[in-house]
Amino acid sequence: MAYSESGPSATSSAPTPPDSGHQETIVVIDFGSQYSRLIARRIRESKVYCELIPHTAPWETVAHLNPKGIVLSGGPASVYEKDAPLPPDWVYESRLPVLGICYGMQAMVHQLGGKVAPASRREYGYAELIQDTPSDPIFHETPESMQVWMSHGDHISELPPGFSVLAHTDNSPIAALGDRNGRIGIQFHPEVVHTPKGKQLIENFLYKICGCSGSWTPGNFVSETVAAIRDQVGGGKVICALSGGVDSAVAATLVHRAIGDRLTCIFVNNGLMRHREPERVRETFKKYMEMNLSYVNATEHFLGALRSVTDPETKRKVIGEEFINVFEDEASRLGQVDFLAQGTLYPDVIESQVPGDDVSAKIKTHHNVGGLPEHMRMELVEPLRYLFKDEVREVGLELGLPREMVFRQPFPGPGLAIRIIGEVTNDSLDTLREADRILMEEIEDAGLYEDLWQSFAVLTDSRSVGVTGDFRTYGNVIAIRAVTSDDAMTADWARIPYEVLGRVSNRICNEAPGVNRVVYDITSKPPGTIEWE
Ligand code: XMP
Repeated sequence: MAYSESGPSATSSAPTPPDSGHQETIVVIDFGSQYSRLIARRIRESKVYCELIPHTAPWETVAHLNPKGIVLSGGPASVYEKDAPLPPDWVYESRLPVLGICYGMQAMVHQLGGKVAPASRREYGYAELIQDTPSDPIFHETPESMQVWMSHGDHISELPPGFSVLAHTDNSPIAALGDRNGRIGIQFHPEVVHTPKGKQLIENFLYKICGCSGSWTPGNFVSETVAAIRDQVGGGKVICALSGGVDSAVAATLVHRAIGDRLTCIFVNNGLMRHREPERVRETFKKYMEMNLSYVNATEHFLGALRSVTDPETKRKVIGEEFINVFEDEASRLGQVDFLAQGTLYPDVIESQVPGDDVSAKIKTHHNVGGLPEHMRMELVEPLRYLFKDEVREVGLELGLPREMVFRQPFPGPGLAIRIIGEVTNDSLDTLREADRILMEEIEDAGLYEDLWQSFAVLTDSRSVGVTGDFRTYGNVIAIRAVTSDDAMTADWARIPYEVLGRVSNRICNEAPGVNRVVYDITSKPPGTIEWE
């Protein structure tokens, strides 16, 4: 199929994509599928920038992106339901290529005059897709018969005018369709790993149909972002709170590249970090980044505020408030500062997008430092606002940050305080730090560190009877938590080899003060959470 330039005649209100603007972008319209984010990630992996937007977004919020194509995601609705979410008119009026996936395809067919009907039975799982039009660009370099992943209740019973069948399966006579204007619909999910040629299909849409060139690379991101930060900040000063994690480190490094010494980073040691963590963060920032770093050791401050606190949420609140006090004190020493840099990531931004509230979704910012007091309000600089975590890591490597920082496991702001059940004291911190140090050494020695989303020790409030030599002991119980996860929303307990667990247990009982028992937490999330508090 060759695509003509003419397309259907646009209505008088048809928006014209502007000539200038952003780099090449694909707009993914979200109809609520559990896979919507995965579609966005796959497109980015194919080196094309994309944004996930609610289906209610008006053209004005999209036009500045100068999109090269539109993807309509799947979703749980049926087009015949009352109030079923439908693509906005600008999708068709823009004359851009469209890829409708599952529900997205049905919505497009419904709007363009075809028919969608309930299938006699729901189709879920693998299917064999047979191409009827193998020469179509969407099928470039794919076999005429291939495995795809289906998950749908409705199916297409009649083509819209101008469309033809591109492929079928046993259960779906119209499993893929297309017209001469680069509008494609597919019933299956190319974004999941169960469709082995899915990546190729997505790339065919991006490169063969939308004409993308694949400019979304870490190197381009760095140069564009550094320029954008310079634009935003002008001659102003920026502060950034470093946590020791990859997000704030990458955000700070980008800002530093852009404005050099006009950035000051503040690193607060709250006394709740892991063994040698504060030293490590300081050393790394000195060695690799050479940036202004003000280090505040507020350990006594935090421990004082946490005295007798045992409730998990109260711990978080106290730590959050203390952080703001210390940060504010430190920031006030720097004189007038206009900007606050933060490592906010795209998933936080997506989560704060409210359908029907699109304009605010564009400008709403996510405060992961915790609400700063009114008189400290600064303009936010959020260079990672449109990145997924794996992209942040790639950018970190591109910037030359050390691997141990780039692939560091996430560590919660309240730190060890929420891994000590009950009151946080110097003694309990010493015990936990030691147990945690041993665990991390063994995990690293076994080459497991980067396979685990998080691994850590928890000091429980249980005591247990044990025996050491000829003596009865009554000691602390340490729990080991290690999980695999993609995004912390769900997690599974990690199947750490028994030998590693055995060594961890032996060493903790021998080396961590007061511990005589080690248990392994085999709870997934849900029903558990990753942290114990
Ligand atoms: P849960 O325990 O809710 O944790 O399964 C999910 C992810 O969030 C981290 N976490 C926190 N991070 N402040 C943070 O900065 C917190 O209060 C907090 N609580 C949990 C947790 O480590 C995991 O990665």
